[in-house]
Amino acid sequence: MHVELDHIGIAVGDLATALGFLRDALGLAIEDTEEVPAQRVRAHFLPCGEGRTKLELLESTADDSAIGRFLGRRGPGLHHVCFRVADLAAALDELRARGVRLIDEHPRPGAEGALVAFVHPSATHGVLVELKQPRD
Ligand code: CO
Repeated sequence: MHVELDHIGIAVGDLATALGFLRDALGLAIEDTEEVPAQRVRAHFLPCGEGRTKLELLESTADDSAIGRFLGRRGPGLHHVCFRVADLAAALDELRARGVRLIDEHPRPGAEGALVAFVHPSATHGVLVELKQPRD
């Protein structure tokens, strides 16, 4: 399997406060904001690499969404690391064959028209991993 770092997802409680550091202190800018109603989240993408690497700031739009519960439990901070793959279904088959525990058994729609699937943090040293097959 070949993967490339796509983005790092950070759960934010207060977007303005987060931007105080990321935009004002580090000079990063939000390139794109997308609401993902199925996950009750608003995702803000900030390019921060030579290639296509980004930060993804995740704002919950409902207290009982996955991000809302994460914020309630652990507060703002690192939520997941996302790797780009060419063929997500094949990547999931390969991980399954290795006995890696998955959250998503099948690809599902994510932000930016991509297909995504999450790997369980118990299989990834405690860091939630998202795999993403970009829209062609
Ligand atoms: Co993500």
